Amino acid sequence: MNRVSNRRVLVTGGSGGIGLEIALALAEEGADVAIQYNHNQSEADKVVRSIEKVGRKSIAFKAQIEKMTEVSALKEDIHSKFGKLDTLVNCAGINRDSLFSKMTDDQWDEVIQVNLSGVYHCTKAFVEDIVDSGHGRIVNISSLVGQMGNVGQVNYAASKSGIIGFTKALARELAPRGTTVNVVAPGFINTPMVQGIPDKVKAKILAQIPMGRFGTPREVAMSVVYLVSEDANYITGSVLNLNGGMYI
Ligand SMILES: NC(=O)c1ccc[n+]([C@@H]2O[C@H](COP(=O)([O-])OP(=O)(O)OC[C@H]3O[C@@H](n4cnc5c(N)ncnc54)[C@H](OP(=O)(O)O)[C@@H]3O)[C@@H](O)[C@H]2O)c1
Repeated sequence: MNRVSNRRVLVTGGSGGIGLEIALALAEEGADVAIQYNHNQSEADKVVRSIEKVGRKSIAFKAQIEKMTEVSALKEDIHSKFGKLDTLVNCAGINRDSLFSKMTDDQWDEVIQVNLSGVYHCTKAFVEDIVDSGHGRIVNISSLVGQMGNVGQVNYAASKSGIIGFTKALARELAPRGTTVNVVAPGFINTPMVQGIPDKVKAKILAQIPMGRFGTPREVAMSVVYLVSEDANYITGSVLNLNGGMYI
């Protein structure tokens, strides 16, 4: 129950289906957890209350991560109300799917800005705190789609494979300074994003998953807890696949 005790974490996208489970699981394992949200304040407030119920500190902060100015303000706010971080989980992300022939410049830009530049902005803002802690952790949420591609998701796939390259390069830079940087790459996880897929398409996807089921947000969360915990001290630059065997 105390695998990440006394860590001070920011989970971006902590109001979302996967981010909220990550935030809760880290708190249950002993961490204080700030969350960042964009629109969904009521869900963010619920997450904060759930974390407080397990006896840990939590505050929700609103910011659009594609804007460096907002992330800089977020950093100031976190410093004054929550304290310096030793752990960052970059989970916020969006999709704007379309066949490439029909993809608009806006669909491309928005996904790259939020999913990839957002990871850059948040990491840039907090990396000094994290490294200074002497035992820093950065976990970036990518996707199976960044590894194997998917029809209608050229923008999303590019952003998610970008996160993998970002992670590997930063892991090399920060390893000598005691900070690990890793990726969790979920496959299809049972969240509103996946629940919204038409039944026929869902059946086709399920047929491609050797385990025959979608993953759960809790399973993603526990892999993040592991990478943040001391059990993962010697792991950096890795991609932890959570996809039921769909991509090996
Ligand atoms: N669901 C899956 O099957 C799956 C599979 C592989 C990877 N992933 C990845 O896992 C992560 C979480 O996915 P999810 O299913 O939990 O998605 P979700 O429920 O839609 O949550 C997305 C989160 O990102 C935040 N967000 C969206 N746009 C933002 C922006 N411009 N600035 C700051 N925050 C923003 C949202 O905030 P608000 O709700 O407050 O607006 C929300 O907290 C994403 O990176 C996704 O790509 C998901």
